[in-house]
Amino acid sequence: MYPIDLLSPSHLFNNVVSTNTGFLPDKPIPRLPEAYSAWENALSRAQEVLILGENITEEDAQRRADGELWRSQIRELPVISINDLKADKQLLRRAHKVLAFLVHFFVHSIPSDQTAGSVLIPRSLATPLLAVSEILRMAPVLTFADTVLWNWDLINPELPVTIENMHFGVELFSGTEDERNFWFGNAKVEVLGVEMLQLFNEYHSLPNVSDFASVCKINRLLTRLVAILDRVEETLTSMRDLVDPSVFYWQVRPWFNGSASGPSCPTWIFEDGPDASTLDLSGPSAGQSSVMHALDIFLDVDFKLQQRRYPAPSESNKRADVGFMERMRRYMPGAHRDYLSHLANTTRPLRELAKSTPAVKESYNAAVSAVRKFRDSHIRIACLYVVSMARSTAIPVGCPVFAMLQRMERQKNQTGRSTGTGGNELSLLLKSNRDATARAAIKS
Ligand code: HEM
Repeated sequence: MYPIDLLSPSHLFNNVVSTNTGFLPDKPIPRLPEAYSAWENALSRAQEVLILGENITEEDAQRRADGELWRSQIRELPVISINDLKADKQLLRRAHKVLAFLVHFFVHSIPSDQTAGSVLIPRSLATPLLAVSEILRMAPVLTFADTVLWNWDLINPELPVTIENMHFGVELFSGTEDERNFWFGNAKVEVLGVEMLQLFNEYHSLPNVSDFASVCKINRLLTRLVAILDRVEETLTSMRDLVDPSVFYWQVRPWFNGSASGPSCPTWIFEDGPDASTLDLSGPSAGQSSVMHALDIFLDVDFKLQQRRYPAPSESNKRADVGFMERMRRYMPGAHRDYLSHLANTTRPLRELAKSTPAVKESYNAAVSAVRKFRDSHIRIACLYVVSMARSTAIPVGCPVFAMLQRMERQKNQTGRSTGTGGNELSLLLKSNRDATARAAIKS
């Protein structure tokens, strides 16, 4: 934790958030030191030989043998001490990413006829992943940070960090361009988010918020925010051209599942570790993007429905998982969470200012409306990529019919509603978040 005098949002802004790359590191390191080459090599090999266990048929002896050999080598690895990583944040991040990818490869490459209700994660992965996660203060599972924030390198290391010079999706599960583009779309939002974070900092650094010049400045900041949000929404909708819904749903998304992610998903047991029910093990979600949380905090969106706002939450809003966003923060690196809590504890809440300053109200409402518009588009995207796919009976490209039929059979036995990566009732959640956003608008 930080000493008490270093807890101001602007101090954290300068120390946790990079002015150049926001929550993305200035540059991720490409490989751990030699002592950890067993992990790095296992990850390279996994990407070459492993496929989803549920796509392996009984007759596919070669796939079964490759997967079993890889997993037995993982079980036989020694527990490598993380002592040499502790002093370097970048090494710890790389270790979290490599180990979390290995755990997801391990669990999801097991043929479905070999998984009972639980999967044992061997101590060679479990022990270091738990230790690294504790230091970084984040969940011991694959997260948004591993798959987006830390999953890129520079195309030309001599040139500056710009979106054109970044290669995303360095580590992939399915190896498809659709998967890479899925991470790329999310990463583009993070890069756009850098401007948002700078703007929040400008607001919090204003000497005061009451004189005419400051009010004009705040309106300009909010107008800039709306323009950025329009680009965020464009980025989201452009993903329809870059990510095939059926490839995403059948070949990419299953790798993200965490422990007990659905009725047919096994519970994870960390060998020598604590009970899985005491750990956060949902898997990655853009709901873990610190930029999106910072935006909602800045505008004071009340996902938990605690404030009296208009219109009152609908019955389906109340049935949604209103604690989802708060839970997702536990998947972020602890330092990012610190920044968010201090942004939330500001002595200068923007919504209160907009309520008491008519000249700010309109531009504040315009920003709220732009976020609502993003969430409306996002509902359509999630519906196309998840809800429709779950209901579809078309045979997906590249997915063995056998595996697909098995999956459809399992889905039929579920509640009939599609769930998110975190096991949420997807449409209830997304609509409740959209409605909570709309409710932030200040009424006349
Ligand atoms: C093909 C593209 C996308 C699909 C299929 C998709 C799907 C989903 C799904 C299924 C959820 C529910 C929770 C979960 O399962 O993780 C979710 C949540 C969320 N996604 Fe996406 N997403 C996409 C792109 C994006 C992008 C580019 C962003 C921008 C950062 C984003 C931001 C969010 C946020 C903030 C949440 C939390 C719920 C909310 O705020 O309403 N998503 N997404």
